[in-house]
Amino acid sequence: MKEKTLDHLNNFINKILIITFLSVTAFPAFSEEKNVNFIENKWSFDGIFGTFDRASLQRGFQVYQEVCSGCHSVKHLSYRNLIEKGGPEFSEDQAKAIAKQFEVTDGPNSEGEMFNRPAKLSDKFVKPYPNVEASTAANGGAYPPDMSVLAKARAGGADYIYSLLLGYEEAPEGFDLDDGVYYNKYMPGQKIKMSSPLDDGLIEYSDGTETTVEQMAKDVTAFLVWSSEPHLEAQHKMGFKTIIYLVILLTLVYLSKQKVWARFSKKKDSKNEEDAFDKVEEIVTQYEGEDPKTFK
Ligand code: HEC
Repeated sequence: MKEKTLDHLNNFINKILIITFLSVTAFPAFSEEKNVNFIENKWSFDGIFGTFDRASLQRGFQVYQEVCSGCHSVKHLSYRNLIEKGGPEFSEDQAKAIAKQFEVTDGPNSEGEMFNRPAKLSDKFVKPYPNVEASTAANGGAYPPDMSVLAKARAGGADYIYSLLLGYEEAPEGFDLDDGVYYNKYMPGQKIKMSSPLDDGLIEYSDGTETTVEQMAKDVTAFLVWSSEPHLEAQHKMGFKTIIYLVILLTLVYLSKQKVWARFSKKKDSKNEEDAFDKVEEIVTQYEGEDPKTFK
């Protein structure tokens, strides 16, 4: 191969390696996109090192339980999820006590009849309504969506939910609102069929934190993000490990590439090459006792 072509190829490979390196290390920065249209909040779970604030998740569960669960289900969660690592991490006794407050239908028993019993850790969160139709009928024709994956399903995720909860305002002059419809800056179309669910001091936190609307909105949002991504913390850890692994791998690839290419670049130095050739010739002659030029 011509030297020039080799140089080009070498440069090209270097560029690819540099670009790959930059994109691997810059990945965490890019993954932290901000939603400019929503109320800004610094979430503890944002970014590659993000983790949930346990106390906030526990308070968020309390808000869900005491306020939202009257209308919204979280059907993917079971009471035992409340104990799991990476979540609110209630103790087993606390979670059992929470579950016990609910009744579920079980059965059939030996007589073939269904019966009610208190919920256990293995039961799913009890739903406020038996089906979509019942919940829609009870809410003036609007369906309170299941919240299991709401934070993931809506553009803006946590910022959207948080902003929506704080986005109730007087409708601007001339804005038409039917009965049971409220003005909310952050709802698409600015009309929502849910009245503002939060009010300062609406509930009392068991850890004594003041229950401002902002605080409750923040906590319940964190809880809903966890419910839609219960393994977020584990995934963040894995993502971080992957990046470290890729950085090490790329460094190794680069070093071995340098090593391999060093052989080619030596050729440029024709004096060295001649010397090396002479040396080999000498050795071969010595061992064979013959003139190496007659070798095929
Ligand atoms: C009285 C029943 C009721 C309560 C209590 C309630 N909601 Fe709602 N919620 C609704 C209804 C009905 C809708 C659908 C509104 C619509 O589609 O216009 C809704 C919609 C929402 C939406 C928008 C969903 C979307 O489609 O983007 C969010 C977010 C939400 N609720 C969060 C909450 C949170 C958080 C709480 C507890 C703090 C709560 N809600 C309490 C009835 C309720």
